[in-house]
Amino acid sequence: MKPIVWVVFLLGLVGCQLGAKRDLSKNAVLGKAVFAEEKCFQCHTMPMSQIGRKYGDDWHYAHLWDPRLVVPSSAMPGYPNEFFLIKVVVGSKTYMTPSGGSAYGINRTPNLESLFSFNPSKFIYLYVSDVSWKTLPNGLKAFLPMSLSPETKKDGTPVVWARGSLQGRVNPGDQITLIAPQAPLEESVAFLQGQETAEKPDWFDIVDSKSKVVSGASIKLGKKVYEENCAVCHGTRGIGDGPASLFLYPKPRNLVSGEYKFKTTLSDESPTDADLYRTVTRGMANTAMPGRSSLPTRARWSVIAYIKSLARDRAKRPPRHLLVIHEPELAPSTLAEHRDRGEALFVGKAKCNDCHGPGGQSQDKLPHGDGPSALILQDDWGYPIHPADLAGGILKRGNSPKEIYITITTGMMGTPMPPYSDTLTDEERWDIAYYVSHLNQTHGK
Ligand code: HEC
Ligand code: HEC
Ligand code: HEC
Repeated sequence: MKPIVWVVFLLGLVGCQLGAKRDLSKNAVLGKAVFAEEKCFQCHTMPMSQIGRKYGDDWHYAHLWDPRLVVPSSAMPGYPNEFFLIKVVVGSKTYMTPSGGSAYGINRTPNLESLFSFNPSKFIYLYVSDVSWKTLPNGLKAFLPMSLSPETKKDGTPVVWARGSLQGRVNPGDQITLIAPQAPLEESVAFLQGQETAEKPDWFDIVDSKSKVVSGASIKLGKKVYEENCAVCHGTRGIGDGPASLFLYPKPRNLVSGEYKFKTTLSDESPTDADLYRTVTRGMANTAMPGRSSLPTRARWSVIAYIKSLARDRAKRPPRHLLVIHEPELAPSTLAEHRDRGEALFVGKAKCNDCHGPGGQSQDKLPHGDGPSALILQDDWGYPIHPADLAGGILKRGNSPKEIYITITTGMMGTPMPPYSDTLTDEERWDIAYYVSHLNQTHGK
């Protein structure tokens, strides 16, 4: 019997994070009707408490497929019938992937031709998921984050790209089932994302970087906390392959490889415990990574001790260079001048525009994350990654000048976002941070 594999239709999601060029307001109005029709109101009132952008769209799809994938104790019903299931068969034609690996075409059927343009010069990568299909019922599915209908036909040729543990194990003739949300579900998610967004405490200010693990924290307790709260996404072994990961992009982090995006230490060093405490407490906005401020302090410090114990040796080495942050005291009258300098550096010396897009005064020249290099970027785990939309997107670390300054200084480990601690002066980094933070406030709504 041919093996059956799960695929995640990742590129669509990148596109959907990328642009959000779809008409959200129209979707959101329809979404409200859908919300009523689906009887969500049986249990939920509106507004649902600050749900807008609390999670990424991907989290919502996983949750609507089966709430227990992301909230193990959930009593909410799943809505798997609101997704399309599309069976495809792997073809024998091979294609080169951007990372030099190979991908297979899929056999064309009239059904697929109504969904994809099969434009030969564009590829739509279908990522075969590492998730063991044994952990999900009736293993015959996969995921397309955006609903496919003849009206939203995808322009490109779909090709299957097997990565991770499935590399080399997907062969011509294998059957793959794609899961895609149907339009009403997509509209419900747009409706939820359009609700009020919570003000999060600044990522940086949650805990003093010198705080120590509270007494009574233990790896043993941490393991229990991890299994109850984290394993659905990060996997029982911590390699990021929990059952929910099928639906998620960015993927849950591989905690064994020990690469962290958010830290106050220099580029390739480990984060401080306080950095990890912040991530666990605050979560990462607009991704599936939830904040867990509701867990007792001791449980949070314990789970940190546990995830550190899972990491490889290099990642266990204590950090040596802690970032010292001196936020300049600017006279308000000089702020505009600093921003202007920041803007000039953004497109000049620092070349942020290579990835984040142009920058500049006019509305159509804002850095929406679509610079010339944007389409070819990958993260260290081999998935395509899109530069943040600095002119209106939700930044994961936060939108204050201080948070942006830290991102510019440390970079984001595991991603193409480079550290500028050596190439820009402290003052230059602050100036760019003022510019970027202001962009986001003026165009963020
Ligand atoms: C039978 C009751 C019930 C129905 C019907 C229901 N939910 Fe829920 N919902 C819950 C419960 C219980 C939770 C809390 C546990 C969880 O997050 O899964 C929840 C949580 C949520 C959350 C997460 C809130 C947060 O802040 O974390 C969202 C979003 C949500 N529901 C959306 C929906 C949508 C959309 C529908 C209709 C398609 C729906 N729910 C139908 C019971 C329900
Ligand atoms: C619903 C899925 C989900 C759950 C539950 C979850 N995470 Fe995550 N986590 C993610 C995703 C997705 C990312 C990657 C986000 C990104 O890279 O943008 C992530 C990233 C992280 C990171 C990396 C932070 C950094 O600086 O790069 C840490 C540490 C982490 N999670 C710890 C935890 C811990 C501890 C728990 C349980 C208390 C937990 N996560 C629960 C999905 C989840
Ligand atoms: C080589 C490409 C590249 C260059 C050059 C680059 N970035 Fe980025 N940047 C990225 C990518 C990719 C991400 C998204 C990483 C993620 O979400 O995990 C990102 C994310 C960011 C974020 C968002 C962080 C968050 O909290 O979500 C900020 C702010 C940022 N970059 C600012 C800058 C600035 C300012 C410069 C120039 C000084 C710059 N970047 C140069 C690729 C780049």
